Amino acid sequence: MRKIKTMIEPFKIKMVEPIKQTTEEYRREVLKNAKFNLFNVKAEDVLIDLLTDSGTSAMSSMQWAEIMNGDESYAGARSFFAFEKEVKNLTGLKHIIPTHQGRAAEKILFSIIGGKGKTVISNTHFDTTRANVEYSGCKALDLVIPEGKQASLDHPFKGNMDISALEKAITEIGASNIPVVIMTITNNAGGGQPVSMENIKATKKVCEKHGIPMFIDACRFAENAFFIKKREKGYQDKTPLEISKEMFSYCDGATMSAKKDALVNIGGFLALNNDELAQQARNMLILTEGFHTYGGLAGRDLAAMAQGLKEVVDESYLAYRIRSTEYVGEKLTEKGVPIILPPGGHAIFVDAAAMLPHIPKDQYPAQALACELYAMGGIRGVEIGSAMMDRDPETKKNRPAPMELVRLAIPRRVYTQSHMDYVIEILDIVNKEKNSIRGLKMIYEAPVLRHFTAKFEQV
Ligand code: F0G
Repeated sequence: MRKIKTMIEPFKIKMVEPIKQTTEEYRREVLKNAKFNLFNVKAEDVLIDLLTDSGTSAMSSMQWAEIMNGDESYAGARSFFAFEKEVKNLTGLKHIIPTHQGRAAEKILFSIIGGKGKTVISNTHFDTTRANVEYSGCKALDLVIPEGKQASLDHPFKGNMDISALEKAITEIGASNIPVVIMTITNNAGGGQPVSMENIKATKKVCEKHGIPMFIDACRFAENAFFIKKREKGYQDKTPLEISKEMFSYCDGATMSAKKDALVNIGGFLALNNDELAQQARNMLILTEGFHTYGGLAGRDLAAMAQGLKEVVDESYLAYRIRSTEYVGEKLTEKGVPIILPPGGHAIFVDAAAMLPHIPKDQYPAQALACELYAMGGIRGVEIGSAMMDRDPETKKNRPAPMELVRLAIPRRVYTQSHMDYVIEILDIVNKEKNSIRGLKMIYEAPVLRHFTAKFEQV
């Protein structure tokens, strides 16, 4: 058999959305009016939107068929049972509670198990997870392995939990003060880096020893499973679904934003084994989201999620998905653009601190870089750095982020290789002209999740 090198997108395009062309001059004006916050820019003024891979997937023809097929009954809809069956098959968990997105599951979970005097431990909390944990009065502690904090250090599983640090933290804090340990797979805030099966197992073992439940933040479970297949011994011959099932077999519960690896534009769930917790969660769901067979979603959304969960574990899809992100990473590295290595599953994380040493941390180098990418090429990424970190809830002081990153998240099945080649070209230009990029000063901030609405001016 001949080996063909070119990997094609494993789908055909049936429907297209036009992209409005804009000039650099126009975009610099837009940026000024948006107070240097890309969340304030209209999507139609963006050429390549890499703000997030969340809710931005292109659905398949089969998913759209399921949208038409959705059962909109208030209680006991057929679409709910199809969804429940799929999530149970995947996770093996007993209680499947739909929510309108991931943070709704987090809000419900932490309003029940969180609270003052407690600490939740994670490899790295995603920003909404951290915010929901802290909003309940609880502390959020990140214990990713030290390699996970070094941008250019190559390691196959940079999302892993630091097991000895976990043991030590549990001894210091006391198991009874730790309601849950959460494994974020892949580790979004840490660079979309995977967690190994061995590490999931080891974390579970420590949790079990101390009687602490282990949960999975499952947003990108399929991408994590594919990394395990590629990089961990003993998994080469297993299917992504088999690997996913094994990952979930070690957990006591899961939160999921279906807007990622369920390939839908809205949806999520909370999955639990504990009967009493599930009952409390359903009661809270009815109060905040809706009846427990629709959880704030339309029946059609549940139907599309069920179909998306089947599609996402397809091996040719995952091979294309992971390779296309890796391709961007390879080209950027060749051009000398500093990125987190190896590239994660859903995004390229540009190391703004390394690229812009002339901009100090308190002038938000990653925010400044994100703005320049927009101005130069109409590309919208997002800062994952000191602006996103918020202030310490107790001291009210700015918390410097461990890394200053610009995340270029790649929506699923949306952009082709030439779109990504354009992104590579723009980053190369920005990197060559980096000395002209100026730092930013934050002139407005909200008390939590400030990066969404913050206003900046150039220093
Ligand atoms: N957990 C992780 C790891 C996430 O990446 C996200 C969302 C959530 C929880 C919350 O889910 O948005 O459905 O409420 N991440 C998006 C992103 C917003 O752009 O990375 P949600």
